[in-house]
Amino acid sequence: MNIVWATSEAAPYAKTGGLADVSYSLPYALAENGHNVSVFMPYYPQIMAEKCDDTESAYELLGVPFGDSNEEWASIRQHKISENLSFYFIESDRFFDRPKLYDWDGNEYSDNAERFIFLSRAIMQAILALDIKVDVLHCNDWHTALCSVYLKSALYNSFDNFSQAKSIITIHNLGYQGIFKKSNLYWTGLGWDYFNVHCFEFYDQLNLLKAGVLTADMVSTVSPTYAGEILSLEYGFGLNRPLQHRAVQGKLRGILNGIDVLEWDPETDKLLPYNFSHRDLTGKARCKMALQKEFGLALRPDVPLYGVVSRLAEQKGLDVFIDCIDAMLKEDDVQFVIIGSGEKWQETALADYAKAYPNKLGCHIGYNNKLAHLVEAGSDFFVMPSRYEPCGLNQMYSMVYGTIPIVRSTGGLEDTVINYSAQNINNATGFKFYDLYPAALRDTMRWAASIYLNDKPAFKKMLINGMKTDFSWHHTAVEYEELYRHANSRF
Ligand code: ADP
Ligand code: GLC
Repeated sequence: MNIVWATSEAAPYAKTGGLADVSYSLPYALAENGHNVSVFMPYYPQIMAEKCDDTESAYELLGVPFGDSNEEWASIRQHKISENLSFYFIESDRFFDRPKLYDWDGNEYSDNAERFIFLSRAIMQAILALDIKVDVLHCNDWHTALCSVYLKSALYNSFDNFSQAKSIITIHNLGYQGIFKKSNLYWTGLGWDYFNVHCFEFYDQLNLLKAGVLTADMVSTVSPTYAGEILSLEYGFGLNRPLQHRAVQGKLRGILNGIDVLEWDPETDKLLPYNFSHRDLTGKARCKMALQKEFGLALRPDVPLYGVVSRLAEQKGLDVFIDCIDAMLKEDDVQFVIIGSGEKWQETALADYAKAYPNKLGCHIGYNNKLAHLVEAGSDFFVMPSRYEPCGLNQMYSMVYGTIPIVRSTGGLEDTVINYSAQNINNATGFKFYDLYPAALRDTMRWAASIYLNDKPAFKKMLINGMKTDFSWHHTAVEYEELYRHANSRF
């Protein structure tokens, strides 16, 4: 199949979260299975310049209609990974030459509607300019949802390149929908007839994700449990009814994300000071020491160490984590290492704890991939108390690095972690809790520490169970192929 993957970020080029990881590793897996895959994303010069040294120009002076009468200009760079996998970058300084992808100092760029409407339109134009015959147009989240609307519109449906194409939209996070003032419809070049409840209209505003959900041939999200949760009022962020509509039509699927096992392998990871495997965990113990050293914690092999690597956003439930660590820092013999950035009050609270308890809590406010690998490898436990979690990748990274996840039972966390009990020790890989209260999280973290301290064989068994689990895309890339076939009956 000729698959076009549209996204706002992909690792290693530009990344704010798991969408970037998936936007590299899933196209890679699909290409390995023999499909032709073209990934389109913006070129963010301030972020990607050195990572794109070996890109070549694929097209100069791409005209992109913007609004009813204007035309913007872009160019396309190409990074060819293999014969059948290329990354294409849409270059437009006006829209993408920014220090960060979506916001500055916590404030969304005021022209985000224009930026991503432009991206979606530029991707459609680029497909024509590069003469790609599309079988599957795979949109991701709100930033590229509009491609699915364009595909069905009179602007594009008569081109040969799109005549066999079906669209998929994958929801990586329903908490972000691209909701803007309705006047932004102007930039799309689509008429007001599109501003209705079956497309963009959402409480008199423009909702790009909603339009994608209602126009795509198939809708998917990144875990089976989340696919059920988003149909509820509690998790649906106002889109539960349109999603229910798609589910009743049999057009909504939940497919679990996989992980990039080339990047995330403790035996070969070059970002770690020591490598290890489930056969020999000496390197893991050394990584723990290295982590303690890095953060100035007491150098002790025997103390339970909890790690966190996360965006500090409401979604991640770290407000509850912050509420519950106070008592643990005062009363328990434990250590914490946290890497993250986001909400200012959380950054400040964590930095304050690090000052008050320098031997027990270390934190790095900011984004640091190398440190993230060390936290995954050197911690005993990895904490994810998410309010909602469409899939979550970190719990999988932690399991393959022999670090036991402590997670709230929601979304992909529910689907990937097997809860500990004495009876299922042969399968257990982590600890789950249900109610998002500080006491529930604290009790679970303490319970996990008691197993670590008092039942070493059980702790080690869980750790090995996690390390042996296959989270690679081998299983789930096949489910995407099936989804594509379901959408496009030619295959
Ligand atoms: P989300 O996409 O909702 O943030 P995921 O668990 O799917 O959650 O993916 C998060 C990705 O971002 C992981 O690869 C994680 O290691 C990475 N990450 C998040 N915050 C940081 C940080 N501060 N430094 C380094 N990596 C981070
Ligand atoms: C989103 C979700 C996360 C998921 C990632 C990749 O950022 O918050 O749960 O793992 O997308 O699909």
